[in-house]
Amino acid sequence: MAFKDSASYTDLSQGRIRHIDFRIGVNFATRTLEIEATYRLQEPVRGSLYLDSYKIDLTHARVNGQDLECEFDASDDVLGERLHLKGFEGESTFTLTFRTSPEARALQWLNASQTAGGNYPFLFSQCQAIHARSVFPCQDTPSVRFTYSAEVTVPQGLVAAMAAEKTGVEEGSGQTIFRFQMPQPIPSYLFALGVGNLAFRELGPRTGVYAEPETVDAAAWEFAENETKIVEAEKLLGPYLWGRYDLLILPPSFPYGGMENPRLTFLTPTAILGTRGHTSLITHELAHAWTGNLVTNATWQDFWLNEGWTTYAETRITEVLEGKEVSDLHAVYDEKRVLAVIERIGVDSPHTALKLPAGEKDADSFTTIIPYYKGCFFLQECEYAVGRERFDAFIQKYMARFQFQSLTTEAFLDFLKAELPEVFEKVNVHKWIYEPGMPEERQKHTSRLYDEVKQVLDGYEQGIKPTREQVQGWHRYQILSFLQGLPRKLPVEDLAYLEDILELEKRNDAALFHLFYATAIASGYESILPRVEQFMGTIGRMLYVLPVVRALTEAEWSRGYVRPLFERVRDRHHQITVNAIEGFLKKAGL
Ligand code: BES
Ligand code: ZN
Repeated sequence: MAFKDSASYTDLSQGRIRHIDFRIGVNFATRTLEIEATYRLQEPVRGSLYLDSYKIDLTHARVNGQDLECEFDASDDVLGERLHLKGFEGESTFTLTFRTSPEARALQWLNASQTAGGNYPFLFSQCQAIHARSVFPCQDTPSVRFTYSAEVTVPQGLVAAMAAEKTGVEEGSGQTIFRFQMPQPIPSYLFALGVGNLAFRELGPRTGVYAEPETVDAAAWEFAENETKIVEAEKLLGPYLWGRYDLLILPPSFPYGGMENPRLTFLTPTAILGTRGHTSLITHELAHAWTGNLVTNATWQDFWLNEGWTTYAETRITEVLEGKEVSDLHAVYDEKRVLAVIERIGVDSPHTALKLPAGEKDADSFTTIIPYYKGCFFLQECEYAVGRERFDAFIQKYMARFQFQSLTTEAFLDFLKAELPEVFEKVNVHKWIYEPGMPEERQKHTSRLYDEVKQVLDGYEQGIKPTREQVQGWHRYQILSFLQGLPRKLPVEDLAYLEDILELEKRNDAALFHLFYATAIASGYESILPRVEQFMGTIGRMLYVLPVVRALTEAEWSRGYVRPLFERVRDRHHQITVNAIEGFLKKAGL
């Protein structure tokens, strides 16, 4: 297929990596991974091979025991350095020995004080979208897939977990060796490693959870229903092909809610509420085991193929497990969110189209919720056009036809046209995919549970404050919808009142706090600042942190506080979060 991934130096005409054997030493003192990696290519290479890398300290490149000529011959702030290996004469394996940089973008090295237990350091990786290259040189594009094995050596007392099958553990002197293999081919962004003081609890026959001993029991209770979720997901999407499905609970600085690393979803601890109220996040990451991990976007321009499909699957599974009333409530809440984002970015911006603009290098900086919900709404239109039964048969066929492959939006549309041609008669597919904004001609979502909230919001606008009784039995998404629907600025006394009747303190839910803080900041509630600092110093989930930062930069009274506040908490955050906040502050001229 002749396409170019603008986020990678990869030249597919040179060949493709098929397998990698890793030996990884984890060094907390120097904050580096010491790695020997042996690569096997699909076919012998002639001449040159380009690999993506980012601040990799290369010691050796060898082929057949001989040194291989190599240089870093191109570099870019976002893409990193192009490692040019030269002089291959028909060989298909080579070995690189190297060290990662303490500034590796994929890795966060945490001090003991940043963990739940406080006694052991922690390391975790986040490779999506283009950060695998800071862990190992590779063809860092989702259009290349490889299998791997790994031998990971960690200081004694720590446990290594990978998004792979664990094949053995061996105690050495002062260190422990963990062995893994990943027999299913994955794209580089799904490579993942976590190291810490980890305990494990079994949840079901193929499900379990890794977490620090301090949180593992709460996590096991919160996510006890994971097995049931897999059973439901399989009905919609086909057999689960990855073996086990475990979770790894990370420290709160993890920049995402969840990351769908195969066999081992990485998860924010902010999902542990003690109520099982935020397990739609698991439904989402689990659905990626099909939509994303099995059938993968070929480039980050086609990101909606991963996230839109996953969000669609998430809504379908939520409908079965939590009922239509709840999935409708989610839909109304999410529709409002995505419309607000489109309005902010600009209805004419190419970044609001499903197929994202060509030539972008920084896949992280154009990540918004648009591919998620606009993508999901587009797939719902397709479903309505042909009926659920036929669409469900199409889903199963799509998964089976493209499993363990990557595809572009165009390849998907070809398949859709061949299988469900009526969709193109009833839905303006071109508009949905290639044009900016949200098409007006679409099924609008309604929700009885949302209408209840709307009544209270309308009352408030007319000066009637809600009572504690009115909001007491609300579903979590009703509270979210309420906070989302409040006027931008409120009297400070009202904020304190609402916080009390909604019992935000007791709920301890970062999703609620981020909305509350954003409104509080816009309203000039200055005494909230220490709590905002505490929030920004612990929570790394960008979906929650970035709106709070935006509110701080937008309100006149708080603008001057943002930069110093950020500098105080900067070290506690992942590079990805730091880069995103920096981007925000620069745009705001701070
Ligand atoms: N794959 C994404 C996370 C991601 C996106 C990492 C882009 C790097 C670049 C993951 O599946 C995700 O979407 N997480 C969401 C939660 C979801 C329920 C919307 C998140 O992190 O908030
Ligand atoms: Zn996702």
